Amino acid sequence: MKRPITRSLVFGLLAGMAGGGATAGGVLLGFGTFESAWPVFVTCGILAALLHNTRQSILGMVDNRTHTLSNRIDRIRRDVGDIHGLVRLGPYTGELPLPMGGGWALTGDSAALLAREALARKPETVLELGSGASTLILGQILRKNGRGRLLSIDHDGAWADETRRHVKLLGLEDIVSVVDAPLNKQALGEQMVEWYDIPKSAIEQLGSIDLLLVDGPPQKHGSDVQARYPALPFLRGSLSMDALVFVDDANRDSEKKMVERWLAEDDRWKTRWFDTVDGVCLLSRGP
Ligand SMILES: C[S@@+](CC[C@H](N)C(=O)[O-])C[C@H]1O[C@@H](n2cnc3c(N)ncnc32)[C@H](O)[C@@H]1O
Repeated sequence: MKRPITRSLVFGLLAGMAGGGATAGGVLLGFGTFESAWPVFVTCGILAALLHNTRQSILGMVDNRTHTLSNRIDRIRRDVGDIHGLVRLGPYTGELPLPMGGGWALTGDSAALLAREALARKPETVLELGSGASTLILGQILRKNGRGRLLSIDHDGAWADETRRHVKLLGLEDIVSVVDAPLNKQALGEQMVEWYDIPKSAIEQLGSIDLLLVDGPPQKHGSDVQARYPALPFLRGSLSMDALVFVDDANRDSEKKMVERWLAEDDRWKTRWFDTVDGVCLLSRGP
């Protein structure tokens, strides 16, 4: 970016000198007419255009650099949050190679928070919406707790297979079931929503849910439909009185609006917000 700016300045300087020289020469020679002044105007015009162009280039460059820098800072912040959480998770997921996940998975700090809650509450029944790394972490925590079962549902059969493969590798089949639940249109009150078609038998066998992890279905970018909103209206009746609802991606507008709607529909829920990389909101009805 340096060269075009320098060239523009040099060119502007030369143009100014040429314009000024021509006007001075004209006056000395006695040509002080209107016509003799036009080069000055042209030069001023060129200079003004050049200066404006230069200013724009500089501002554009600063803007680009600022954008790149803020992206890098954001990336570093994400990585630090992720790694910090993974380190804290270490003692509880000894058999799980770290790091894990990718962009879709719970970040390390959110996963550590989930693990902490699961260790403290020792839930008997866990339902997870959206399988993956969190399934494996929860499965291992339940094994460590010595009690509890996890039902994880996924709309994507291929991804569910992938999670099942890891569940098997970790020997968690007696604790974790990953069930296919394709998304389809369902009536929720007056409206039709897209929601998991959860096999009835799977829910019936589960009993009342002590911990509900809301991390699916995927939220479409830019859509004002809150894809995960149906979780509470559909599952409220299956939750135990002191159930904990763990909402991932709580920094997103869609999740914030979703939680607002839930609270408006049932004011017994208390919320706690956590500033993890993607944000977490914990909801409970206890004191
Ligand atoms: C937010 S992800 C769930 C992530 C999961 N709770 C975890 O911590 O890994 C929501 C859905 O995205 C899909 N998904 C997850 N990981 C994926 C991947 N790496 N590639 C494509 N789809 C993925 C799955 O269908 C999943 O149910």
